[in-house]
Amino acid sequence: MLSLFLFVIHSIQNCIQYLQVKRTNKEVYDFLKTSCIPKSEWSKYAYIRDSESYSRNLIHDEPGKFRLILICWKPGHYNAIHDHNGSDCYFKVLQGRVREIQFQKQSQKSDKEYDEGEVCYLESLNLSHQMSNPDSETIAVTLHLYIPPFDTCHIYDPNGQQIEEVVLSYASEHGEPLYDDCHQLL
Ligand SMILES: [Fe+2]
Repeated sequence: MLSLFLFVIHSIQNCIQYLQVKRTNKEVYDFLKTSCIPKSEWSKYAYIRDSESYSRNLIHDEPGKFRLILICWKPGHYNAIHDHNGSDCYFKVLQGRVREIQFQKQSQKSDKEYDEGEVCYLESLNLSHQMSNPDSETIAVTLHLYIPPFDTCHIYDPNGQQIEEVVLSYASEHGEPLYDDCHQLL
């Protein structure tokens, strides 16, 4: 059956306002899926550091409820296998494409690539994942929503053994770069 999505242009502020009301998982997923967030809206948050292979940028924190961040991925780079410390995660590809591998306990559950505009939902329960930018030239940009916010997560080796707990950090917060080696994507 043909599925028809009606795309609606949203500002980052629209997204924050929508999320301030308690929503079901399906409502959040459908909202992100049908949202078109133009680059003029997200570019003010899009910083990448010379010293990092990918950079996390804090857009908005609603304490105890949700957190919105923007991640910029250098071509060919990836992060470690990690969990979200019990939080649900959604991401939407805003530029380029990303590969995401999900793990459940010690085995690989899925391996999928997401193109611009696509949305992924990662359940909090017993899941971890690894993301990468498979492209050799284009910087990928993804919008991430965490419900509720979390400040630390766990890193795993490919055998599912926990290696360490890490404190999450940002290249920029609310559009303000925190380091001298931050560059804004234009
Ligand atoms: Fe993640």
